[in-house]
Amino acid sequence: MNHVKFSHFLRALLAVGLTSGALAAQAQAVDVAAADALLLSNKCAKCHSVDKKKDGPAYKVTATKYKGKADAEAKLFTHLTTAPTIEIDGVKEEHQKIKAKDDAEVKNLVKYILSR
Ligand code: HEC
Repeated sequence: MNHVKFSHFLRALLAVGLTSGALAAQAQAVDVAAADALLLSNKCAKCHSVDKKKDGPAYKVTATKYKGKADAEAKLFTHLTTAPTIEIDGVKEEHQKIKAKDDAEVKNLVKYILSR
């Protein structure tokens, strides 16, 4: 390979690397401000915080619990949208069903929680 062709080759490699890196970042990007706003408007902080246990588990604990599980996002989406039965101090109640403008907003929050 002569020198000119080799530098073309390097540039092409670099371009591929940058593009796939950008795509990966986009796939994982969490809109933190939107997630915070949704938590606030739903008053989730009454029972949850990122790192302290309240009536509900800390988001960090939940993130650890689901780490590496392929169905994590689906499980949490269901948890937030179907009001499953939970227990607080031995009393059964329905988990709060999230109010959001669309599924994408809930999915963004799920990604936020799983990345704490
Ligand atoms: C009245 C208290 C209360 C409120 C309000 C509440 N939660 Fe929870 N949440 C709980 C409890 C208790 C659990 C634990 C349920 C269990 O492990 O059985 C829980 C569990 C969770 C989990 C973990 C589910 C899992 O599969 O491990 C997430 C995530 C969560 N809540 C998010 C939220 C969000 C987001 C909101 C606001 C829309 C919210 N919660 C509002 C009490 C609450």
